[in-house]
Amino acid sequence: MKSRATIHRDFSIARIDDRLYSAFIEHMGRAIYTGIYEPDHPTANAQGFRKDVLELVRALNIPAIRYPGGNFVSAYNWEDGIGAKEQRPVRLDLAWRSRETNQVGINEFAGWAKDAGIAMMLAVNLGTRSIEEARNFVEYCNHPQGTYWSDLRRQHGVTEPYNVQMWCLGNEMDGPWQIGHKEAKEYGRLADETSKAVKAFGKGIETIVCGSSNDQMATYPEWERQVLDECYENVDYISLHKYFGNSSHNTLNYFAKIDETGRYIQAIGGVIDFIKAKKRAKNDVYICFDEWNVWYHNREQDSRNWREWDWPEAPELLEEDYNLEDALLVGGLLNEFIRRSDRVKIAAIAQLVNVIAPIRAEKGGKAWATAIYFPYQFASLFGRGTALNVAVDGPHYSADAAQDVSYLDIAAVRATDGKSLTIFAINRSPDEAMDMDLALHGFQNVSLIDHQVLGGDGTGAREANTSANPDRIKPRQGDKLSVDDGAVKAQLGPLSYNLIRIAVE
Ligand code: AHR
Repeated sequence: MKSRATIHRDFSIARIDDRLYSAFIEHMGRAIYTGIYEPDHPTANAQGFRKDVLELVRALNIPAIRYPGGNFVSAYNWEDGIGAKEQRPVRLDLAWRSRETNQVGINEFAGWAKDAGIAMMLAVNLGTRSIEEARNFVEYCNHPQGTYWSDLRRQHGVTEPYNVQMWCLGNEMDGPWQIGHKEAKEYGRLADETSKAVKAFGKGIETIVCGSSNDQMATYPEWERQVLDECYENVDYISLHKYFGNSSHNTLNYFAKIDETGRYIQAIGGVIDFIKAKKRAKNDVYICFDEWNVWYHNREQDSRNWREWDWPEAPELLEEDYNLEDALLVGGLLNEFIRRSDRVKIAAIAQLVNVIAPIRAEKGGKAWATAIYFPYQFASLFGRGTALNVAVDGPHYSADAAQDVSYLDIAAVRATDGKSLTIFAINRSPDEAMDMDLALHGFQNVSLIDHQVLGGDGTGAREANTSANPDRIKPRQGDKLSVDDGAVKAQLGPLSYNLIRIAVE
């Protein structure tokens, strides 16, 4: 099959916010305990964090990380995780029916995030708690000194405030499963007042209000309309979540869910515009897509298990073995965020280690990159700058999730310094190679820097990187691409993800 695509240097979508490549980690399963933190592990540093995992994290160049939940945050007391470790209470985590030892709290996590070079994006509990708790948490984290909470932080050995700039106002408050779930209007009022309190701590603080848990929720998108009606002028972002699966093994429909996500973003963009007009508001609200990923390989088994188990500590939960198809889905979603970067300013892959994650770590054993690690890494490293429009003329298909879906999934980013152009191109066809002709207009002295390929050789679609075979899916140098006279010609193998980097002037 053949596809033609055209890019012009000046036809841009938006300046991409670097935070589009953020991540999320929760006190859940083995994400924190025996994921990033394992004092007995051979690679543990003095603080008990695994250096092998930290190395894999650092190589992703993650701009921001959302913490500590997730459903967990909705019944969490952040104060349980401060002060002397041996005096911290052990609690029952109601969200995942687990035992929380509180050996990692805000100060340990902040230290890890600093080591990893990642800014924190903290969530406050608006399920079982309220404005007071949020205010105290911000004061503990951000106020320099001379008050009860800031001096307590100093007594705990942290002299300088963290100055956390991103605060999530609860988690998935539209979900009936959420501890402290609320009606839209009720939550919108609470979010409005909490946001006021959080922002009182200083200029530059941004807040994120909960939107829908997914686009299949009965309350979507009325939830967003009612919530924003209560708090539009006091918040900066509305959060969206969506998880993806291919239980029916219908690969083309699986990829069409990326186009479905585009409509989700577009619909919420419309709600934002409606409320802004209704209120004659001066401020803008953007989308923070702060939970997204593939979650299905052992979802049924997991959901049966955790509802019955006896409050274990750091149980195995949502540990997915991702295959090539999943890597293409993740690459495609990142492409969609780039294409929608005028609306989506922050996005966070959920999650980072062990729990539905690009990084896996065995207790006491090795750590490795799953198949989805690579498209995430490539987007984070090379997807910074200005998103350019790509006009595509090529074959399409229809599926349950969306109609008129292009086999070629492509996004383009001009680097901030203007010296390179990165193309992320996916051939979604499971069985046919694609000849792609890409015309570049408005650029001079065009030459190839690099072409990396995942898949495309007819193997690996349903194979995964596992402990026994951690390198099954990994990028290799492409050899079917030429750049000549402002045109890129490439053959994209079936089910292939392609990173194409081009030097331009
Ligand atoms: O990421 C796993 C869970 O998915 C999160 O705790 C929750 O916010 C969502 O439902």
